[in-house]
Amino acid sequence: MHSEALLLANIGQLLTIRAASGYSGPRRGTDLKHLGVLKDAAVLCLGGKIVSVGMTKDALRDPWLKKNRKKLTEIDCTSKVVLPGFVDSHTHPVFVSPRLVDFEKRIEGASYEQIAEAGGGIRSSLDVVRRARKQVLADKVLGALHGMAVHGTTTVETKSGYGLTVESELKSLEAIRNAASRWPGTVVPTLLGAHVVPKEFQGCSQKYAEIVCKEMIPQAARRKLARFVDVFCDNGAFTAEETEQIFAAAEENGLSVRAHMGQLSETRLQPFLRFNPASFDHMDHVNDDDIAQLTGHDTVATLVPGANYFLGLKDYPNARKLIDAGVPVALATDYNPGTSPTLSMPMAMSLACTHMKMLPQETIAAATINGAWALRVADRKGSIEPGKDADLAVFAVEDYREIPYWFGVNRCAMTVIGGSVVHKR
Ligand code: NIG
Ligand code: FE
Repeated sequence: MHSEALLLANIGQLLTIRAASGYSGPRRGTDLKHLGVLKDAAVLCLGGKIVSVGMTKDALRDPWLKKNRKKLTEIDCTSKVVLPGFVDSHTHPVFVSPRLVDFEKRIEGASYEQIAEAGGGIRSSLDVVRRARKQVLADKVLGALHGMAVHGTTTVETKSGYGLTVESELKSLEAIRNAASRWPGTVVPTLLGAHVVPKEFQGCSQKYAEIVCKEMIPQAARRKLARFVDVFCDNGAFTAEETEQIFAAAEENGLSVRAHMGQLSETRLQPFLRFNPASFDHMDHVNDDDIAQLTGHDTVATLVPGANYFLGLKDYPNARKLIDAGVPVALATDYNPGTSPTLSMPMAMSLACTHMKMLPQETIAAATINGAWALRVADRKGSIEPGKDADLAVFAVEDYREIPYWFGVNRCAMTVIGGSVVHKR
């Protein structure tokens, strides 16, 4: 898969997103604005890795490059913006069908919670996933991954969570593994067995939580099918106590944790910090004490404005308050059939600008390096620096601010993964 040698040259704006020297950690506060922009720049990739980053004229003078120029694939990026491939750190791609009835009911005035209580929502996606062959699910996931790459995404966190039996959650994770083996990008799998309590356990959620802890988590861990365990901790899903219990089971089985927190209601976050969660996602409702706590941790607040948009909500998470306080913030699509059927990171970034008052440069760092921190892959992903994976997105725009500016169209002209061009328009 790894191409021999690839040179992107004459780049109009190269967003390296490299850290200030000596700094290592997710970007916070004003650091989120620093994109390390180089003009008329070049990136050389060898064996799937970035080997040098600098000015085009210096790259072309390099003795190694002069000698090997014929062996290089050279791509002219005049008037283009090159940035690290997006890291989409929150997606739910293992489903079969769109939820069009929910869509219409919401347009007619029903809320997400009312629809869920009436048997729609997450529970209505379960039957068909339980019945589906693994290969069908794998092909659905692969289709989504390809669509994401076309929009500039090169690393994706993918959750199970529409099976909610031991068998169908493991089948979903196997489908993710199968799709990942056929996609050149990087897939980080997450077990979301604790998405909702399925109807056969209604009224005895504790019994279901025990199955998650005693069966799903140990089996997923033993078979190395998941890197993270996620819990939807909220009204109508899992309680804080159940979430702690599930986090403890994950820890015992050597898996890291993350959670959907504060989407519909506020849950105190401080008690969970002892599990060192990689991220708390959604964060529409969060109190000031918890914000202060998060400033001292590497747990990333992953905001998913696509869900607010698609649910037609007036309010969005308070990104400004989180960023200005010093909480590391990432952006993700939350790709799923109920609340956010979009594959596009630029769409999430555009919503972050218009509805959460994030600056374009902040959305770019949140969609790359901080996504990488949220998945604990920042040693390899999320910035353009020698030694990191050669995962790059090339946008047909002259100024990086145009990436979130042109909404509803795809301006990604080329996607490079592991030094190979995987999409070109
Ligand atoms: O992130 N909140 C829980 N999970 C998803 C929604 C999943 C669905 O509705 O299918 C979310 O919004
Ligand atoms: Fe989600």
